[in-house]
Amino acid sequence: NEVIVIKDNKIINKKIETSDITKEAKDKNGYKYYMLKEIMEEPVVLEKTLEKYLSNKEELPDISSYEEIHIVACGSAMYAGLIGKSLLSEYANKKVIVEVASEYRYQNIIYDRKTLVILISQSGETADTIAAMRKAKENNIDTLAIVNVKTSTIARESDKKLYIEAGPEIAVATTKAYILQVAVLSLLALKATKSITLEEKDNIIEEIKNLPKMLKNILDKKQEYFEIAKKIYKEENIFFIGRKIDYAICMEGSLKLKEVSYIHSEAYQAGELKHGTISLIEENTVVFAVITEDDIKDKTISNIKEVMSRGAKIFIISNDTYQGKNQVTVPKINAFMQPILVVPVLQLIAFETARLRNCDIDKPKNLAKSVTVE
Ligand code: BG6
Repeated sequence: NEVIVIKDNKIINKKIETSDITKEAKDKNGYKYYMLKEIMEEPVVLEKTLEKYLSNKEELPDISSYEEIHIVACGSAMYAGLIGKSLLSEYANKKVIVEVASEYRYQNIIYDRKTLVILISQSGETADTIAAMRKAKENNIDTLAIVNVKTSTIARESDKKLYIEAGPEIAVATTKAYILQVAVLSLLALKATKSITLEEKDNIIEEIKNLPKMLKNILDKKQEYFEIAKKIYKEENIFFIGRKIDYAICMEGSLKLKEVSYIHSEAYQAGELKHGTISLIEENTVVFAVITEDDIKDKTISNIKEVMSRGAKIFIISNDTYQGKNQVTVPKINAFMQPILVVPVLQLIAFETARLRNCDIDKPKNLAKSVTVE
């Protein structure tokens, strides 16, 4: 089980490793679609990943000594990075830059402070993210990978690696891996946070242990979210608005919807809409608003009123209740983990919308599970 490889005129013996894609992972366990199966697996894989880090089976690095953090990734992995940025800058008081890898690899990056580059990648084989990682290493910058596939290039070449325990993810549009990327970033931010007391941290950790059960309760109410999909699946343009971490949630909610249902969708900073894009809002334009951050909820409410005055049809996803219908309310939990209770609702809405549109959900047109070329 070896192959001989010639590289730089040298003979190298390479051990053949078989992939860990188990039969169980390839089975749909009664689900018609991998995407739905993988969303419904989220509580189990979340429990497995949280337990590994909370019980210190895998050490979470303390990143508080770094002055600057760059989070570099593609697609949903980059949107997980936006959640990480919100938490690290808000609670760990870190200067964080989030950039798509295809930009980062060609930009003139000034490494003038003690910097950590975090690469997020489910497959660990995305060409742009590999290039960004190698750019950091060429500049002698520490790299930390949050990665699912343990035998991947990014897992092998990064200095530190934090594995998520998503198991094989088959559907092209990521769901469970994204949730675990957010969970690991949240734990990193919690560990690096100096602005809360040890007692507060312990309380948050107790809440985190309860998170998989809370997530399962949310997923069990999927019919409620499917009712929303029934109201929007014929739309051609859908907007998602939010502020701060709610905007980061909107970015993933919007990408999920468009990549599987092919409905044009745009996530927008709620406070920025008025500077141009609001011209596209007309009678019955569908707008999803995400409101979980207490300190800016009144601002987002006023942005909702702005678009409603132009005829928009509003759907609200929140940890509080604002309207009797077209609203999903999830339990309120600490800010580190709140996105993990919100995004799966948007994943399920995207899934059902695509199903109602008879889309090829697990293999959307033109998309690849991992883009290993530029
Ligand atoms: C896209 C996938 O091609 O690449 C997305 O469809 C994913 O789901 C993105 O988020 C990045 O891939 P990876 O493997 O680097 O996380």
